Order: sequence, then C-alpha cells, then structure tokens
Amino acid sequence: MNSKKLVSTIFIMAVMTLVVLNMTVESMYAAGEPARPQLDIVKAPFGETPSGEAIDIYTLTNAAGMSARIMTYGAIVVSLQAPDRDGNFDDVTLGFDTLDGYFKDSPYFGAIVGRYGNRIGDAKFVLDGETYTLARNNGPNALHGGVAGFDKRVWDAKVVRHNGQPALELSYVSEDGEEGYPGKLRCEVTYSLNNQNELTIEYRAKTNEATPLNLTNHTYFNLRGHQRLGDILGHELTLNANWYTPVDDTLIPTGEILSVKGTPMDFTSPHPIGERINSDDPQIKIGGGYDHNFVLNKIEADALTFGGRVYEPESGRVLEFYTTQPGVQFYSGNFLDGSNVGKGGVAYQYRYGFCLETQHFPDSPNKSQFPSTILHKNEDYHQVTMYRFSAR
Ligand code: BGC
Repeated sequence: MNSKKLVSTIFIMAVMTLVVLNMTVESMYAAGEPARPQLDIVKAPFGETPSGEAIDIYTLTNAAGMSARIMTYGAIVVSLQAPDRDGNFDDVTLGFDTLDGYFKDSPYFGAIVGRYGNRIGDAKFVLDGETYTLARNNGPNALHGGVAGFDKRVWDAKVVRHNGQPALELSYVSEDGEEGYPGKLRCEVTYSLNNQNELTIEYRAKTNEATPLNLTNHTYFNLRGHQRLGDILGHELTLNANWYTPVDDTLIPTGEILSVKGTPMDFTSPHPIGERINSDDPQIKIGGGYDHNFVLNKIEADALTFGGRVYEPESGRVLEFYTTQPGVQFYSGNFLDGSNVGKGGVAYQYRYGFCLETQHFPDSPNKSQFPSTILHKNEDYHQVTMYRFSAR
C-alpha cells in the first residue's frame, strides 16, 4: 500500500469509529428522552432587598437530578431536592418561596452565619487586652453574628471551577468594626454539588486584624420532604461524638466537656430524635430539646471526618455529613412554632426541622480551654463540610 492509500485508509477507519461511538452514545438517549444529564449552574433574578439591591438565585443541578438553589442574600440555601428510596425528588430544607419571606423573622433558614455562629456569653470578649462589646440579640448574649450578621448581607457571586467541577463562589467583605468585631475580613464560601449527591461547602477567609471567626451553615432539614412534611422526631440520628459541651440556662457552655454516655445526648448509635427528647435530663430541659454542641471524635484535627448520619424511615432518605470542624450544634427546631409560613404555604410547626451546624464550640472567645476561634492577621481560614444524600 502506498503512503497516500495508507493515509486515506486510516482516515476512513477513524471516521467510521467516530460514527459507531456516536451511535452508541445517541442510542442511550433515544428521541423524546430528557437531555443528557450534566453538572450545571443556572442564574436567575430573585428580587430586591428593601434598599433596592438586586438578588440572584443560582440553581446547581447534578447528573443524578439532584438540585440546590442558593441565593446571594445571606448565601442562603433556599431549597434542596433529594431523592427518596423510590427515586422521587422532594425539597428537604425549610425556607421561603420568595425573597421577601427572608426579611421578616427568618430563624436563619439555610443561611451562612457569621462572623460568629452560635453564642458569645454576655455579648463580650477580650482580645489582645481589649474588650469588644457586641449587640445582645439573644437574652444577655450575642447570637449568630449580631443584628445584621452575614445571613442578612448581600454576597457577590461567581461561577468557578472547583476540583474540576462548576461551583458557586460567594464572597463578602465585612468591614472593620461591623457588628462590633475587629478587623476587615474577606470571606469566600464555595458551594458545589457533585454527581454522588454530595453538597460541599468550603469556607475561606482572611483578616487584616485578629478577630473571632466561626462560620457555619444554618440549613433546617426535614428528610420527609415538603410533600409529606411533619415533625422530625422519627428521624434516626447518629453522631460521631462521645462528648458534648453542657450549657447554662442561657445556652452558654459551662466550659465543661462531658461524656454523652448514659444520657439522652448519646447518639453514638442511631436513636430517633424524639426517643428521649421529653426526658427529665436537665440539659434537655434547658435546651427545650436538643440545642447543644457535640464534640466530634477526631483522629486528626482539621481532617474531613465523619460527623453523623440521619435516616428517615418513611422516605428512606439518608443524610450524612463530614466536616473539618471540631463540633456540631444539633438543634431540634425547638423554637419553631408555626409562625413562619414557608414554601408551598406550609406553616413550620414545632420541631418541623433540625439543624446540624458544623462549627467551633459556642463562646470559645471566652473559654480558653476550647479550641481557638481567633483568626490572626494574614492567616488563612479554611473549613469544609460535606453533606451526602442517599436513600435505602
Ligand atoms: C441555636 C438556637 C436558635 C437557632 C435559631 C441555633 O443555632 O442554637 O438556639 O434558636 O439557632 O436562631
């Protein structure tokens, strides 16, 4: 065969191979079937703040059909569609259909909370010899970053590639002195959803002056889904935590770290959330249910480790979380009372949602025995939490 013939034979074989390959792919997606699944992020307008700032909402969809809607107000997770054991999708988070809902008394539905998620006792802390005074927005204490914390701020958004996949990066610059905290702080929160139904939240920050920092996400989950919403007492919870931080009657840690053994705090094996929630245990009484920080069992500090699992027996949905954080606030929705009318016009009644807020321990700036939450000038802050959804 001369060289001209050889080249044309190779060319014809290459074309034929491409045609056959293409037919195989096409035959998997016959006419009339949905478009080829892919990871995708789509932006849409979601309204305006009372001061006229435009808010966008981004829908992250994966190849398995799961989706997460996240908006630039509060970096809030507005909805999360997850499959049950029969493959039916439903929204498993609490929130509102429209932006306006989030302006009146949202109990931090879906939000990023900061600078300091959870409570700081007496709304005060001392740092480098200076006393800082914060707003008392929860009895005598400061809660979730103050009167206008990160959940009430407008974040900048851009779609980026993260670990080879599209992701949503939200950023916010908190000015020096905002809500009483020192230092100008730049925060980035990246949400990504992969094809294994894992929603990952990655937090980064840098400051020009030392400041306490404790960022978390405050999504309320209900794995029954919105179509069959009810309380969360039948959900079975496992926590990878042998210890927890007991609280005083204003929900500030006493500073002790106690064993969960023999108490209603023991979720080292699965228990329905409602099983021991009405017990006479003094800690449960103080919390009005579960509203406590659990100390996660870590082999290596800052490593992404298994934090816990929630299983909802009727739908079969399972939520597992992994985190680099040392603790998790397990909150059983004790302050929900039906006054928040959420998605689909559903009134969110007592204990209709639970939160697993991965975090540093509450009141750490005033508890030197707890892992430090101080971010120093030019240090890199980096935390990761991953929520994995499945069904059985
Ligand atoms: C706190 C609860 C509080 C809820 C909503 C949780 O993180 O632990 O006490 O009611 O947030 O503000």
